[in-house]
Amino acid sequence: MPLPTIEWEGDISGRVRLIDQTLLPTELKFVYCEDIKSMWHAIKTLMVRGAPAIGIAAAMGVVLGIKDIHAKNTDAFLKELKQATTYLGTSRPTAVNLFWGLARMERVAQENKGKSVQEIKEILLHEALKIQNEDKVICRQIGENGVGLIKDGSGILTHCNAGGLATADYGTALAVLFKAKEQGKRIAVYADETRPLLQGARLTAWELLHAVIDVTLICDSMAAHVMKLGKVQCVIVGADRIAANGDTANKIGTFGVSILAKEHGIPFYVAAPVSTFDLTIKSGDEIPIEERSPEEITNGFGKKTAPEGIKVFNPAFDVTPAKNITAIITEKGVIQKPSVENIRRILG
Ligand code: MRU
Repeated sequence: MPLPTIEWEGDISGRVRLIDQTLLPTELKFVYCEDIKSMWHAIKTLMVRGAPAIGIAAAMGVVLGIKDIHAKNTDAFLKELKQATTYLGTSRPTAVNLFWGLARMERVAQENKGKSVQEIKEILLHEALKIQNEDKVICRQIGENGVGLIKDGSGILTHCNAGGLATADYGTALAVLFKAKEQGKRIAVYADETRPLLQGARLTAWELLHAVIDVTLICDSMAAHVMKLGKVQCVIVGADRIAANGDTANKIGTFGVSILAKEHGIPFYVAAPVSTFDLTIKSGDEIPIEERSPEEITNGFGKKTAPEGIKVFNPAFDVTPAKNITAIITEKGVIQKPSVENIRRILG
């Protein structure tokens, strides 16, 4: 990434600096979150987005929420902390990294409840930065673990954005492509534009162009034709939540791409950190799917493209069944033929 997606600026009384992803690719601008409400808003409106980046934003959002609390004692402080995590948890429902980040912050606070309020605040800031730094290492490892699946000279289709913008740096699905490029493999990437918010066109195309990777933008509806033409040798996407059986929620349209890949005998890979697994749920049926405002479809990017009063259904994610997934690439290794057993074997 030319600039970091998300950074904490200053000490415990500091603020969060984000790349405002709603403005890309025409403007590369920062937005500053000084308090928990502005972080909630940044997550909700997709200024910061992508499951791992949302997890980091949530952890830093907790610090914004507690930094000015003047609690009399630790118990009062922990109560206010709980309010902060509950509030941030209402921003977006699908990416489990959000809840993973919040739970980790709560756990660390509980583990340190013998300390003073000021000490716990410092520990929480340290933990948020640790989550961010760990994500950088995890993304590199995902790239290393997945690169063997990419053959020299292959075409690769991706959907949405699972790059550096969606993580602390380097991405998940795109990490594998960045690594392939670093190893000198010749690759040609097809980026689905990803209706309705165009994360593929605005963000993935932008990141890959920056990395000088051969990238071609297509409309979502063109993927079947491009596969039929023999231009795609594998699909690689990110994930927002993976159930214990390997069913995977990702950006709306991913399920359809998996069916197309199956029809054409093309391997379909998911790349995601362990923090995107939700082993408390048995299958994808239990994954909450976010529904977003109708205006994203009828009035995207300021242009009215549908008649007034039209009924709209706008789910932001869908679930790809494990049977459509060839392998899941994690920092711990590659899970071939995802199933309860195969996932457990790699994740431990
Ligand atoms: O709505 P978004 O833009 O947050 O959706 C993002 C995705 O679906 C990504 O593919 C997923 O979070 C993985 S990011 C490494």
